[in-house]
Amino acid sequence: MNFTNALLKWYELNGRSLPWRETTNPYAIWLSEVILQQTRIAQGWEYWERFMKRWPTVENLASATEDEVLREWQGLGYYSRARNLHKAARQIAEAGSFPTTYETIKTLKGVGDYTAAAIASIAFNEPVAVVDGNVYRVISRYFGIDTPIDSTQGKKEFKAMAQEYLAKDKPATFNQAIMDFGAIQCTPASPDCNVCPLVETCAAYAEQKIDTLPVKSKKIKQRERVFSFIYIRCNDEIAIRKRAAGDIWQGLWEFPTTDACNIAIEESKAIAHKVKHVLTHQVLYADFYLLETDIKPSLPPDYIWIKETELNNYALPRLLEILLSKL
Ligand code: ADE
Repeated sequence: MNFTNALLKWYELNGRSLPWRETTNPYAIWLSEVILQQTRIAQGWEYWERFMKRWPTVENLASATEDEVLREWQGLGYYSRARNLHKAARQIAEAGSFPTTYETIKTLKGVGDYTAAAIASIAFNEPVAVVDGNVYRVISRYFGIDTPIDSTQGKKEFKAMAQEYLAKDKPATFNQAIMDFGAIQCTPASPDCNVCPLVETCAAYAEQKIDTLPVKSKKIKQRERVFSFIYIRCNDEIAIRKRAAGDIWQGLWEFPTTDACNIAIEESKAIAHKVKHVLTHQVLYADFYLLETDIKPSLPPDYIWIKETELNNYALPRLLEILLSKL
């Protein structure tokens, strides 16, 4: 059996049943794809259901405020995805209908090749191949291709191959088949090749290159940063501020940082030290302190005091949620 048909057959037997696979509603599919870029299926499922319940249509989402959307996104991190989702919903609402082709879907804010291909193929049956991490892995291993997947040449080569082997008459099924196959069978670490239907013709298996394919050329440079946050509790109030543009966490809320205000750390209690948090281009280390006081310290004017019980109305960066859980 050829590569394409073997994947389709495997998917018939092993594909996951997921709520967004029961629909061709482009909004529902788009939402699932954006969420799944951020998290695993189990967690993504819950977010998808909450979003769909709260905003059943793209027009509903467009009518929400950005803060509401960010709040609902909380826990997934990388809020620019949520911001773009919201902006694109407004683009669609303004246009009057959801775009229906790969090229027009790509004009939506934050929608790149992958997401446009996923929506166009899954919702509209357009024969355009998706290329995500799973697809790179499956193709590089099966065909024994060692072109780095993060090179311009690699991106071109893998995209062309995915398009060549795409089941043109069943793009929705094939695209989800190859992604599921990568996620479940041809996993990054120790795939179980003994039960793989493609093992007999797999180049990486024959050449013992399962562990070395796919190849990545560069390591992304990561900047290291250190933060100190103080949770100031004054009776039943706490201080927070909204982060400005120009750095990470734009528009999210944070606790006072020691570099932004002259709060004596000595009077505070250390809650956590050097909590490591890895972003795409930055590695953050955070110290976390608690200051309990009866007198509000004076803070720079961008800080506000809120009831501690109302903190859950404010979208926090993932790192601050983690710190908060240590309180
Ligand atoms: N990962 C992200 N989107 C997916 C999809 N539609 N099918 C399988 N895995 C995925």
